[in-house]
Amino acid sequence: MKSVLISLFNKDESIWVKYLENYLPDYKVYRAEVDAYDPEMIDYAVVWKPKEHFFYGLRNLKVVFNTGAGVDNLMKFSQLSEVPIIRIVPEDLKDSMLQYILFSVLYYHRNMHVLEEAQKRRKWITLQEPKAEDINIGILGLGFIGSEIASFLETMKYNVLGWSRTKKVIKGITTFSGKTGLKNMVKKSDILISLLPLTQETKGLVNRDLLEDLPKNNSFKGAFFISCGRGGVQKDDDILWALNKGVLNGATLDVFQNEPLPKKSPLWSHQRIRITPHLAALNNPKDSCELIVEQIMKVEKGEKLNNIVDFTKGY
Ligand code: NAP
Ligand code: GLV
Repeated sequence: MKSVLISLFNKDESIWVKYLENYLPDYKVYRAEVDAYDPEMIDYAVVWKPKEHFFYGLRNLKVVFNTGAGVDNLMKFSQLSEVPIIRIVPEDLKDSMLQYILFSVLYYHRNMHVLEEAQKRRKWITLQEPKAEDINIGILGLGFIGSEIASFLETMKYNVLGWSRTKKVIKGITTFSGKTGLKNMVKKSDILISLLPLTQETKGLVNRDLLEDLPKNNSFKGAFFISCGRGGVQKDDDILWALNKGVLNGATLDVFQNEPLPKKSPLWSHQRIRITPHLAALNNPKDSCELIVEQIMKVEKGEKLNNIVDFTKGY
């Protein structure tokens, strides 16, 4: 009998077990922290932030399924350089991220940050918002999620720019790559969105130097930063510094260098920061399990897998 071992940090594993058992009636599904199992008998692993010891003894592991888009938590397991890691990114995860980003972009575009303050002071103010086409939105990361979001925002008439490791061609989007490309894009970005994975190369990329390049004399009198890739890509202290210096006008942060964000962090109470607790886009268990099972069937038939992580690149 084939076996699947699961370990899902902070997720209700029982729902995932139910779907997997339902879709794979001939397989045994074990929960790593709950069930007794023989590690040598495990064929597949389904994980989210597994514990240090999770992979010990899994000598016959065929594939690891990461139940999320970001795989940074798996890069410390050197044994995984030999085992394919598959990112499980269902379509609805992209939809959720799009909703989150759209909401955040519109919040700033329609001056809600100013109007909410005015309401607190019972002030009746009239503000004309800029046209969408006069707002430059720069997206860091044009992968599975970022490229779709770029195209959607473009259909909403925003002027969309995007930066990736390798240069992309996406209809209607001005694309950049490399260090100079990054600088050139950031200089123009009224709203900067991070959708980058956390890797050796992207760690701390959104720092003072980068934030200082953002436009200051645009119609908003400063730029906005929306962070929903990984917290390690930004330096939280530099975001605070940029807001306090007037280098940045506002920030919407879903991800942080340290999660959960410590209670004592000054980010919590900053007037110009909007915080959400890393939930911009969560994996739906049903759709994710369907994708996992689809891929297991492919392995069993010797077919090519999709969405394999490049361990050397780290994403
Ligand atoms: P993806 O398909 O792997 O795309 C990653 C993008 O980042 C690619 O365009 C890649 O460039 C670019 N990139 C990577 N390293 C780079 C570098 N050094 N310089 C410039 N560009 C670089 O990932 P995805 O599915 O779009 O997801 C992106 C990230 O979103 C995930 O890694 C995860 O951390 C985060 N996420 C967060 C949430 C949340 O709830 N907050 C939910 C889902 C995902 P190339 O195209 O040239 O390879
Ligand atoms: C969530 O953060 C993900 O990487 O899917």
